Parts: sequence; structure tokens; C-alpha cells
Amino acid sequence: MKDLSNDFLCCPVCKGELDHSHRDTLPGDLPVLTCNNCSNNYIRYESYLDFLGEQGLIHNSRREKIVRSVYAKFYTPATNFMFLFCGGVRSARKEVVDQLEIHDNDTILETGIGPGDNIPMLRKKAKNLKIFGIDIQKQMMIHCSGNMKRWKDTIYLFRADAEQLPFRDRLFDVVFHLGAFNMFSNKQKAVDEMIRVAKPGTRIVIADESEKGNKIFNRINGTKIEFISPDTFVPGNMLNISLKTIWKGYGYVLAFTKP
Ligand SMILES: C[S@@+](CC[C@H](N)C(=O)[O-])C[C@H]1O[C@@H](n2cnc3c(N)ncnc32)[C@H](O)[C@@H]1O
Ligand SMILES: [Zn+2]
Repeated sequence: MKDLSNDFLCCPVCKGELDHSHRDTLPGDLPVLTCNNCSNNYIRYESYLDFLGEQGLIHNSRREKIVRSVYAKFYTPATNFMFLFCGGVRSARKEVVDQLEIHDNDTILETGIGPGDNIPMLRKKAKNLKIFGIDIQKQMMIHCSGNMKRWKDTIYLFRADAEQLPFRDRLFDVVFHLGAFNMFSNKQKAVDEMIRVAKPGTRIVIADESEKGNKIFNRINGTKIEFISPDTFVPGNMLNISLKTIWKGYGYVLAFTKP
């Protein structure tokens, strides 16, 4: 991963400055970034920066844990199969990506990037995009960086929680999230973080299963995730709020503009 200066990054926990000069302080000579304020250490691997360490497990039941580990491995074919019921993978992704306002040279953040399956579609939208992706799962970091190598693409990857982003305020021209928003433990914090890191005027987009899709998700995973309409979490001062049903009724896409 290319080096990113303090212009972009901050400590996800306290938002303090990161010191890039602490090197070789952990076993295995892995370079670390240390927060000047709270002294947390974050490891820089070859293809991503890890802001979570041992944290970041996401499962609500034992069955879901098993389903998730298998799912991570077979994420792309499994998602492509599920999207067959939503009009096909291309049209399902397009229904979300078309909501983004992307221009040449934009800096884009996808939270919960998974294996990076939206990246090829983003690249077709405009030239010279600087793309940042975060995900909570290590396996997704590995899948995503592998895909980028295979596709001869370069993006900036971070293992981080969408509810505590490791980025400075007002950085991104485009901020979006596709999938798993319904299962965030603190959805309000995730939305507030997306707004914080977006530049004024940025269109923020969130898509996930609708109430109908969420019922099926719960049945497959043995979970009891409550569906809360996502517009509940949009602060009153946001502009042009739109909430549409997509994926043949199994999904929604929420979009709004930061003033
Ligand atoms: C359904 S997948 C979507 C992946 C990708 N956005 C796509 O369109 O294919 C959801 C992703 O969100 C990630 N995720 C779940 N909770 C998260 C959180 N709190 N912070 C960051 N990523 C999270 C999961 O690890 C998973 O990779
Ligand atoms: Zn800190």
C-alpha cells in the first residue's frame, strides 16, 4: 500500500494525529503507526493498514459465525447467485452505483468494501479516481487486495469499523456503503462518521436489504436482526433525502447530500 500522510489518516478511536515514525517496534518488525494522543498502535501490512487488531468480530449467533466464514470465502459467487433474485448482479449493483455522483479525479470511500466487487463499475464512471475501502473482516482485506492485484488496480485499503473511521474530516467527494448496514450495532454512529468524512456537497449513499429482504436474511442466518428504516438515522439538516426500493423489493437505497 502506498504511504498516506497525516493529511488523510487519524486515530479511529480519539481522532488524534498518527505518528508514522515509530517503526519496527512490534515482533516481526512490522511497521506501526502510533496515536500521539491515546498511544494506540496500528499495524501496517503490505496491502492494508489494520486499525482493529483482534477486535472486529461480527456475528450474532454461532450459526451466523459459520455462515459468515463460509460466506467470506465464497462471497462473490454467493452474492452473484443471490442477486439473480434481484434482477441480476450487474443491474443490482448499478441500481446503487447510479445513485453516486462521481466526477473525474474524485476521492471515493466505500465502507464495508468486501472483496471490492464494486470497483470495476466505479472505474467506468470517471477517470483518475482515488478509491479508499474499509472493511471489518481480515478475510475481506485479503480477498480484496488479491482482486486488486489480479485486476491490476490500486486502491487504499484499511481494516476498520464503519462506526469509527480512521480518516480526517471533509476528505471524500463520494461516500457509500452497500450491504450489512442493517446489522451495524450503532447505525447512527456509522451514518455520522460517513457525514463527518464527506466534503460539503457530497452525496452519501447507503444500500442494504429492505424489510422483506431482511426477513429472508434472518431466516438463512438464524438471526433476529430488527429492520429499522435507514432514513431514521439521517440528521435533519441533510439535503435531498431519497429512499427508494431496489432489487425487486428486496433492497433499499438511501441517498442524501451533506450541506
Ligand atoms: C454484504 S458485504 C458487501 C461488500 C461490498 N460492499 C459489495 O458490494 O459487494 C458487507 C461487508 O461489510 C463488512 N462490514 C460489516 N460490518 C462492518 C463494520 N461495522 N465496519 C466495516 N465493515 C463492515 C463485512 O465484513 C462485509 O465485507
Ligand atoms: Zn488515539
